[in-house]
Amino acid sequence: MQQPDDASRDESPSAVEARAAAYLLPTYAWTRFHPRDGRGARLVDAHGKAYWDLLAGIAVNALGYRHPALVRALRKEAGDLLHVSNLFYQPAQAELAERLVTLSGLSRAFFCNSGTEANEAALKFSRLLAPGKPGVVALENSFHGRTFGALSMTGNEPYRTPFEPLVPGVTFVPANDVAALRAAVTERTGAIFLEPIQGEGGIVPLSDAFLRAARERADAVGAALVFDEIQCGLGRTGFLFAFQRSGVVPDVVTLAKPLGGGLPLGAVLTGPRLEGLVRPGHHGTTLGGNPVACRLGLTVLDELVEGALVARVADVGPWFGRKLAALARRSPAIAEVRGCGLIWGIELDREAAPVQAKLLEKGFVVGTARKKVIRLLPPYVVPKAALAAFVLALEEALKEPVA
Ligand SMILES: Cc1ncc(COP(=O)(O)O)c(C=O)c1O
Repeated sequence: MQQPDDASRDESPSAVEARAAAYLLPTYAWTRFHPRDGRGARLVDAHGKAYWDLLAGIAVNALGYRHPALVRALRKEAGDLLHVSNLFYQPAQAELAERLVTLSGLSRAFFCNSGTEANEAALKFSRLLAPGKPGVVALENSFHGRTFGALSMTGNEPYRTPFEPLVPGVTFVPANDVAALRAAVTERTGAIFLEPIQGEGGIVPLSDAFLRAARERADAVGAALVFDEIQCGLGRTGFLFAFQRSGVVPDVVTLAKPLGGGLPLGAVLTGPRLEGLVRPGHHGTTLGGNPVACRLGLTVLDELVEGALVARVADVGPWFGRKLAALARRSPAIAEVRGCGLIWGIELDREAAPVQAKLLEKGFVVGTARKKVIRLLPPYVVPKAALAAFVLALEEALKEPVA
């Protein structure tokens, strides 16, 4: 017998849409897609149609759906304490901190519930490193979240304008413009916030020269160098941490998305320059670093590192990159392909949303970024055959008349 609280599980798509329209604040422009089941990189909708998922819940489901290790860990946690608060010691949280610190070479971890919260915390911790220096340098087309601090560092006018005035003191420079970065970072700068690969900004990898210049300027003026690896971190580049790709070590790394295996979990990792600065009372959260989320976090890291999923991304990435480059050569509709590992942006000569809709019809779930970019963030378990089939489907979609 179905339990009353389960009643909406099998509801028809139109009934769910009607209830959402009536009762949810319309903060999202929902796609009429109703995923109800899935396994690995496969999703099945309410009508029983199967799709290859090349978006992974926006870079969250690195292990794919129903990964046996995550299911096992969650079942075990269900019989344990679900929450005790950060007033008391939590074994899973301390263990996850140790794992992240050891793997990153940084010094300490703070846990929260989301990427936005991680960036808010990183902004506060940066202020402790550079007291009296309220300036922040961030990038045009960056995305760091939607709360006031994170939004203030987000270089996207439509997101910002309705909520101004925002937190003052943020200067935006174009990605990979070393001269502009050097000029923008002054003695008043307390933090430089960068995504090593811009996600929402259209999958724009920052050059090693740009990252090195950021490190040099942060050191010269005493500012914190913060890398937001919320979308590009935790294996997606083929390295566990995106900063390991360039070798430029930041003072702070923010993480979220795949870390909790599908449950809300964000993290801030701090390096040696922040040692001793963050003290009791400076920051906190009730649910952040919850035992269940941290156990799943440990499971995710086990699969990424011991389970060799990061190595798989490093192997599949260049192969897929070559396939995309070959497609770009034969398809005039593709202006540029950017990315590495399993984070790719395909810049089109046309709006991406109608192409995304066509791909959904053909059985591929993909994202978009800015107006003209198809964004791919597949689970790390995605079969090569699915990626090869996507390339053919995209080629076909780009040949069809523009609606
Ligand atoms: C680079 C980056 N930073 C921050 C965020 C915000 O994370 P969350 O949505 O978990 O708050 C995102 C989310 O897309 C992101 O891609």
